[in-house]
Amino acid sequence: MVGATRGLLFCLLAVSVTYVKGEMFTALADMERLVYQESDMVAALKQYIYMEEARLDELKRIADDFEALTKKATEDAESYLHHPVNAFLTVKRFLVDWNRVDELVEMSFASDYLSNISYHRPYFPTKEDFRGAALALFRLQETYKLTASDVADGIIQDTKDSPTMNALECFELGRVAYEDTDNLHTVMWMKEALKRAQTENPPSIEISVVLDYLSYSTYMIGDLKEALRLTEQLLDIEPDHQRGHGNKAFFEHELAVISGQKGDTGDMEEDETNKVQDSRPKRNVPEREAYEALCRGEQVQMTPAREKKLKCRLRHYNRPFLYLQPAKEEVVFDKPKLILYRDCISDAEIERLKVLAAPKLRRATIQNSVTGNLEFAEYRISKSAWLRDDDDDVVMKISKRIEYYTGLTMDTAEELQVANYGIGGHYEPHFDFSRRKKDEVDAFKALQTGNRIATMLFYMSEVTAGGATVFPRVGARLVPEKGTAAFWYNLLKSGEGDYSTRHAACPVLVGSKWVSNKWIHEVGQEFRRKCGMSEDR
Ligand SMILES: *[C@@H]1O[C@H](CO)[C@@H](O)[C@H](O)[C@H]1NC(C)=O
Repeated sequence: MVGATRGLLFCLLAVSVTYVKGEMFTALADMERLVYQESDMVAALKQYIYMEEARLDELKRIADDFEALTKKATEDAESYLHHPVNAFLTVKRFLVDWNRVDELVEMSFASDYLSNISYHRPYFPTKEDFRGAALALFRLQETYKLTASDVADGIIQDTKDSPTMNALECFELGRVAYEDTDNLHTVMWMKEALKRAQTENPPSIEISVVLDYLSYSTYMIGDLKEALRLTEQLLDIEPDHQRGHGNKAFFEHELAVISGQKGDTGDMEEDETNKVQDSRPKRNVPEREAYEALCRGEQVQMTPAREKKLKCRLRHYNRPFLYLQPAKEEVVFDKPKLILYRDCISDAEIERLKVLAAPKLRRATIQNSVTGNLEFAEYRISKSAWLRDDDDDVVMKISKRIEYYTGLTMDTAEELQVANYGIGGHYEPHFDFSRRKKDEVDAFKALQTGNRIATMLFYMSEVTAGGATVFPRVGARLVPEKGTAAFWYNLLKSGEGDYSTRHAACPVLVGSKWVSNKWIHEVGQEFRRKCGMSEDR
């Protein structure tokens, strides 16, 4: 009955949790809460240890006293008991003191501690969070070309106080890759686990267990010879390993078949390697490479000659509101025209937006182009919230500011979206406009506001490393600077989508990234687009 009531209570608690389970890793905001939670849990554990120690101390004192007494008594029981006080005290001990001992032994604080700590349980990260955190590390490895060894040593950019991972932790990361049938990362991390286990004394994970996983995943990426070597190494340590013997026979057989086909040339490795089946979904490879290179700061397509033509100036666009505080406009790319507005949102405004958004942050969704439904996707990992103009003066002021800067009406714009990207948080290449292909549900049809004509993207934090906005088709790269906004038109003047605006948010490598954006729509802009900064388009 007690259990049932408690179960119910926890259900209620779980409902009131503001994040959706399994999505903690998507935002630093949630991870921060975890840090405070853990510090509370440590305090509870220390309290439990303190109480248990006090209990055991009392028991120990009683045991010591009794030991001294019984030692004396047993040396000469008769004369000891001749003293009437000794006789009385002996009887008393049996009736009173030994009961106290029972009481103290029974009085464990274990259930008290467990019920104290259980308050935190509904807020624990889930297995999905663990998987998400691991996948974020793999993504960072891929995008920024980091070795498992460097990651395990915490050597990521110039971070200080780097944490290091032991063999078991590398193994656990490898296990996530294994369960995800991501053989490449399984091999990388099991190799690292093996290397570390061999230097640990005692190893934090059994070497044979690591070898078991490593030989299998090595086979899966097509390196048969190495898989056999690792299996033999496993059998050296554990001669009775059942699966080890099975695998050895299988690998030997496979090798024999291949060398038979090859007429014993023995150079099967290359062909084998070509068979590598990376099970991860195939994405647009050239685009992904361009995207990842830009994220690393490579292949940026902006020649000095081209750059010289770009302008940087203070402008008020003949709008009285901007006479005193003109826009600090800087054109940083020509095709598509990318404009930065420096110092266009203050630190105080940023803090206010974060406060307003925090309770509303949800894992960002994407629209399924076939069904029109909103879904989660691996390619967009962040948390976001929508703020309406009437939510707060600051939101309204920002809408007005965008209108003054761009000359475009906000009447048909979407609400302000605030997003927080945690470690590994990213948004792969996409268009902001709707492509209206035959098989696509027109995302904006119901709104009657037309397509997304332009995007204004405010950077609300610096990012220690990673997190750039990149345009892989043209080689443009914008690095987040707190207080700066980026603006571009998504549509050509004809109303057609401008395909050069395909862009992405690079994974956050170190730090946390806050942005907000306004998607501005077509309807109402008919006589406005030619005004202001857009005059030369
Ligand atoms: C459990 O929490 C209560 C209230 O904070 C505290 O008084 C008690 O000592 C805690 N018990 C243990 C075993 O930590």
